[in-house]
This record gives sequence, C-alpha cells and structure tokens, in this order.
Amino acid sequence: MSKQTIAPAKTISGGLSVPGDKSISHRYAILAALAEGRSEIHNFSAAADCRSTLECLRRLGITVDVEKDRATVHGRGLRGLKPPKKKLDAENSGTTMRLLAGVLAGQWFTAVLTGDDSLRRRPMRRVMEPLAQMGAQIRARDAEFAPLAITGAALKAIDYTLPVPSAQVKSAILLAGLYALGTTSVTEPVRTRDHTELALAEFGAGVRTSGATVRIACGPRLEARQLAVPSDISSAVFFLAAALVLPGSNLLISGCGLNPTRTAILDFLATMGAPISLVNVSMRHGELVGDIAIRHAPLAGGVVSGPLVAQLIDELPMLAALGPYTEQGIEIRDARELRVKESDRIAALAENLRRMGAKVEEFPDGLKVEGKSAGKLRGAEIDPHGDHRIAMAFAVAALGAQRNSRILDAGCAAVSFPDFFSTLDQLLDR
Ligand code: S3P
Repeated sequence: MSKQTIAPAKTISGGLSVPGDKSISHRYAILAALAEGRSEIHNFSAAADCRSTLECLRRLGITVDVEKDRATVHGRGLRGLKPPKKKLDAENSGTTMRLLAGVLAGQWFTAVLTGDDSLRRRPMRRVMEPLAQMGAQIRARDAEFAPLAITGAALKAIDYTLPVPSAQVKSAILLAGLYALGTTSVTEPVRTRDHTELALAEFGAGVRTSGATVRIACGPRLEARQLAVPSDISSAVFFLAAALVLPGSNLLISGCGLNPTRTAILDFLATMGAPISLVNVSMRHGELVGDIAIRHAPLAGGVVSGPLVAQLIDELPMLAALGPYTEQGIEIRDARELRVKESDRIAALAENLRRMGAKVEEFPDGLKVEGKSAGKLRGAEIDPHGDHRIAMAFAVAALGAQRNSRILDAGCAAVSFPDFFSTLDQLLDR
C-alpha cells in the first residue's frame, strides 16, 4: 500500500481490539525458542516486527508455525540453537536486533544480525558494550552500527547500570545472563518496561527484582508454556487519541495490556482531562490485562520531561500530534532518544505538524506544539519517513482537519499494526 487518504470525520465509536503486544510477543517467542518443548503463544502480534523475530529464530534452527494469531514454537533448549547459514535480518525491528544480540552473546557460534536502512542507522553500542564486558566478541560497522557480527563465548556475569534508559538493552543483558556464570544484575536509574523480567519468571528462569535492580541467575533450563499476549496499549493509544480529537466519541478497547510500566499514557491523558476508565482487569502470566473505555472531552495540554519520557517513549508521537487539539499545547523535553527511533521522530513530527498548519518549535531534545488550533488544522500530504508511529499519529490528527490528508508510504503502519487503517475506518462516522 502506498498512499492512504484520510478524510475528516465526525465521531469515532464502538468496540475494538488491537493486535497482541509487540514487546511481549518478541519476548515470548525468544524465550519459547530457548525453552525445552512446544510452546503455544495466543494473540501473538500481527506486527511485521514480530514476524522478523520469528524469521530470525527459524534461521537459528527453531521450528515455528503460525496460524492466524497463534504462534507455536518448538523450543530446543538454551543450547539448542544452530549456527545460521544466512544473516539474521531484523528488518525494521530494534527489539529483534537488541534482544537477539543478548541471546547470541551466549552461543558457541558466530551469527550476523542486520536490518533495513533505518535499523542500520540506529545506535548499537549501548548493547555491544555490556555484552562485550560479559565476554562476547562483537564487530559492527563503524564500531557502532549494524550489521553486527556476534561471536558468543563462555560469558561471565556482570553488574551493569544502564547509562540510557532502555528496556531493550536491559533485556539483552538479562538474556545473556541466562548463559553467564554467576548472577548478572542490571540497575536502571529510570524504570523501563519490565516484560522481560515477567516473561523470564513465567518460563521458569531465576529472575528477581529488588528496587531498581534486576538479577538473573545462569540457566539451567526454561520450560515450554501456553501463553496469551495482551493487546498492545501502544497501538490502542491511536484510537484513544482519535476519540479525543472527535467530539461525541465513545470507544471500548478490549483485552489491553495494562502493565504499570506501560500505562503512563493513560495517567497523562486522564490528567489532561480525558475520561478513561478500566474494566474487567485481571492478571495473566504476571501481566495486567483489561478493557479501556474512553469518551471525548476537551484536553488541557501538558509537558512531558524527565523520567516520564522513558515511560511514554512510544506514545510521544501521538501525544505531540494531539498538541493542536489541546488548550495549552504539548511540550516534550529531555527526549533526544526520539531522534534515534525508527525515524528522527522530533524532525518528522515538526515537519508534518507544520504541513498541517500547526505552530511548532523544535529543540534538540524535543518540541513544543501550540494548542487551541483544533478547527484550524488543514489536510496535508504527510511524509511518515517510513515510521509506523508517525503514519498512525498523523492519520488520527488528520481526522479533525479541514479537507482530506494523504499519508505517503502508509504501508509502514504494518510494522506494528497491519490492519490499522481498516480498523480505524470501520469505527468512524463521517
Ligand atoms: C521496546 C523498548 C523501547 C520501545 C520499543 C520497544 C521493547 O525501546 O521504544 O518500541 O520492546 O523493549 P528502548 O528500549 O530503546 O527504549
């Protein structure tokens, strides 16, 4: 799919579910491959990113069957991966590359991890350094970018404090920790999503969290599991935002992951005035799951900075694109990390918001989007720069604009949400 036209809409209403959580799907698939026996993962994410993880696992000798949203993974144990005959292609997926780097650090062979143009520009030193300290040999293009050639070794445990808040780096170290003699620890000054810790515990690993430190003991074995993935709150956010853009809207999003390390967006929207309620909340495999109900209400606006940035990292594109629809606007600071995501998200947001007529100030570490522009935005041609979250954020912002917008290269939404545009279309009243 190339271009997608978005016509303005009156309201969005009804019930929906979004695909399985991308972060959790990657983790369950990887741990299932390292476990002994057959694991079944239900509601496995439809995201292209998670298919990349499955494809890499296949190249490492793991049999994976996918039928609709169920992935069956035939695990071969911690020592069962085979040397790949070809490069492992993570395509657009940073999570695939960084998590698998951790696993490969503990193998007895060399494997090469590569990715698409975007991923080959993203920083990898952050995983290379701790894994090298553990004993792995990693060669990278210009010593910091993919392709990464990883030669595993007999690893030693380390105590590592994360210099950049990153769940991917934490996870790479914890996965390598399964192979390291002794107990490996990771301390995070700023808390990030804890799906790896929860999933490791589900598969029977010796993992413990106390305060800001997670510890993992070496092996010895992981057990195959039957698991269900909650739906992805970071995908649900585009629909929450659509309800906030369009007066009179009312939505119920079912079976969503509500892990407290991911729900800062719900608190932030609620603080700005969004009427959000959670129903049918329960615990599944250590993860909170429930339905999210939202009604339209005017939004106050606000500032995201400091530790909140890491908590909202994947939701910042949508929040920024909501800026014109708020009273006081949205300001994002301390978010340099956004420049090294699937695109330079600060630049992509500023460029496309301006194309729609919004007033934006860009900073090295964020941006400020002026509010009170709801009725004034105009339809525009949007360039998502190949970034799924930029494409979806502007599809939502375009719903409240005057006249049609066109999203170029809209197919990139499939990186996390292949049916995004049809799901949106079914719920809109134009
Ligand atoms: C993810 C962690 C975050 C997030 C990404 C998924 C994960 O990245 O932005 O979409 O699944 O661990 P960082 O760890 O680089 O912050």
